Amino acid sequence: TVTVTVSPAVIGFNAVAKNRNDIVTVPDGYTVTVVTRLGDPLAAGVSAYANNGTDTNFAQRIGDHGDALYWYGLSATGTREDSSSVRGLLVQNHENINQQYLHPAGATSPGGIRPEGEAQKEIDCHGLSVTEYVQSANRAWSYVQGSTFNRRITPATPTVFNGPVRGTDFLKTAHSADGTTGRGTINNCANGVTPWATNLTCEENWAGYFRRSGDNAARTAKELTALGRYGVTSGTGSYGWSTVVPADSANTLFRRWDARATGASATTDFRNEPNQFGWIVEIDPYVANSVPRKRTALGRMGHEGCWPGLFVAGRKPAWYMGDDAVNEYLYKFVSNTAWAAADANAADRLAIGDKYLDAGTLYVAVFNADGTGNWRPLVFGTAPLDGSNAAYPFASQADILVNTRLAADAVGATPMDRPEWTAVNPANGEVYLTLTNNGNRVTGADTPTAAQRQTNAANPRVYVDPPSTSRGNRNGHVVRLRETGDSTEALTFAWDIYLFGAGSDLNATNINLSGLTADNDFSSPDGLWFGRPTNASGLIKPVLWLQTDDGAFTDQTNNQMLLGLPGTVNDGGTRTVTNTTAAGVASTQATRVGATPTAATLKRFLVGPVECEITGVDSTPDGRTLFVGIQHPGEGGTPAAPTSAWPASQSGTAPAGTRPRSAVVVITKNDGGVVGL
Ligand code: FEO
Ligand code: CA
Ligand code: CA
Ligand code: CA
Repeated sequence: TVTVTVSPAVIGFNAVAKNRNDIVTVPDGYTVTVVTRLGDPLAAGVSAYANNGTDTNFAQRIGDHGDALYWYGLSATGTREDSSSVRGLLVQNHENINQQYLHPAGATSPGGIRPEGEAQKEIDCHGLSVTEYVQSANRAWSYVQGSTFNRRITPATPTVFNGPVRGTDFLKTAHSADGTTGRGTINNCANGVTPWATNLTCEENWAGYFRRSGDNAARTAKELTALGRYGVTSGTGSYGWSTVVPADSANTLFRRWDARATGASATTDFRNEPNQFGWIVEIDPYVANSVPRKRTALGRMGHEGCWPGLFVAGRKPAWYMGDDAVNEYLYKFVSNTAWAAADANAADRLAIGDKYLDAGTLYVAVFNADGTGNWRPLVFGTAPLDGSNAAYPFASQADILVNTRLAADAVGATPMDRPEWTAVNPANGEVYLTLTNNGNRVTGADTPTAAQRQTNAANPRVYVDPPSTSRGNRNGHVVRLRETGDSTEALTFAWDIYLFGAGSDLNATNINLSGLTADNDFSSPDGLWFGRPTNASGLIKPVLWLQTDDGAFTDQTNNQMLLGLPGTVNDGGTRTVTNTTAAGVASTQATRVGATPTAATLKRFLVGPVECEITGVDSTPDGRTLFVGIQHPGEGGTPAAPTSAWPASQSGTAPAGTRPRSAVVVITKNDGGVVGL
């Protein structure tokens, strides 16, 4: 069992009002500072960002669409020091791009042959950045251009494959005839960490980047099933990178986005290139030339995040992972190796990753109606996870890991309302999971029958009023679970719904089920993180930060971040959710819920600028500096008419036509205290 001291936490700020201002709004008594923005130069000698579409060298600049981030402390002499709160490396994912702002007048030839230079910029804006951050004596934060730790990992960075899929036919392509190496990582969304101080970056919506059509005759029936299940179906591929005709005809970095079977075999074309993506990738942020390792034992899906459970000596550790697509599943990976605390300080960090992350059992979650749950192992050899599975006959464990979604289908996993981040309460090990929303939980008519709602106890809510825009759970919710015996190795768990998203003005009987008020109403929860385990006084405070990525509530407020002080699973008992269509067809779904939040347990801390998503949060170990990612402000605008001027707008009126940039802000309390408390 996990025994820790929990000190009482009290939310120490007044709620920020919902608003649609083009700034980051924080409570009175707090200060916002913009530190790194899209395009800021990382390498020495790279010019300042002009922000007019003429910039180049993006592989040496901060990338676009900053997503999850995490702080890795540095000592004064530049060595790993986990406790440092004044110097460190910020590792941030760069998920996607606002393509229009990267070029002088938007993308050239968006539906035709793309110019090489433009495509190169777009590709280089994806991946990750490792950036040295420092706090000066007057507590001001800045980043260090030219730091030897600074690094960009892009879709071209060499990677290696580890785990059961390494070296199998699934990974063989024209650039990796033996299936052991890869090139880059893409659409990196949320993250995970290890106690040995590496970063786990998660490849989420990779499928859409690939062009694939017209090669069905060259594919096996199993391949076609798998491609369809993962959505590798685009006839053009995002941003048309496969259309580039590079000046160097030997450069296959563009050609590989064309995943059609066009050659004599898998090693003469890039038909298997999509199999090289969709993985958890481990990175050592302290070694700038270290080669990222793709950990195939953790399965292949639309990986959102990969947060670990608590590490207990002698017990096998686990990582919890959402697969963010409609009606996908929650997974956990349990290592084969019991935790030995000395490994936290090993010099060769990626070798420790090999020890814990290359062999283990991947499980998928089943949420039962009675508030219990089961972890079903995805292990080859027993029906239905063998050749007898009619929908997709499995041939090996590698087949299961490459086609994890099909294996989870076969064992009857519970379809969820888009599983996004997971977070683990450091005080008791409970696992929280955001379910952002689901636009397709209803099948059939706009006035569906009860059966067409397709609810389950853990996903109990559909909106059917008004009918034409109502296909599912528009505002999302947060599920949490407690492992039996508080063990990461457990095969069963208890669960409830911690919070339902909703506007406070909405019907309290079937939409605003958590009784949210104007001070804490939200929609589409996504980012989720418990504060660093120890605060300045060395005691654990289970404080939950919740970030939103919403399209249904943006008529009332820009996206936001809340602070919660959650209780424990099943502190709210049972509840019956009633879903009624506009035509009056009612159905009920019983579920388990958390205690109704109050002004003392859930409060809005931050509202972002126009058309942004709030995603990415961490703090220094002392809790006095909070890092928050502001992703894609002004994403709906054009170069001629940007819809946001943030972050330039943060400090006053920006010149007309200023282009918006994703950025990381630091938030500090003016009295120097722990942020939020
Ligand atoms: Fe990249 Fe599911 O958020
Ligand atoms: Ca997300
Ligand atoms: Ca999202
Ligand atoms: Ca986004």
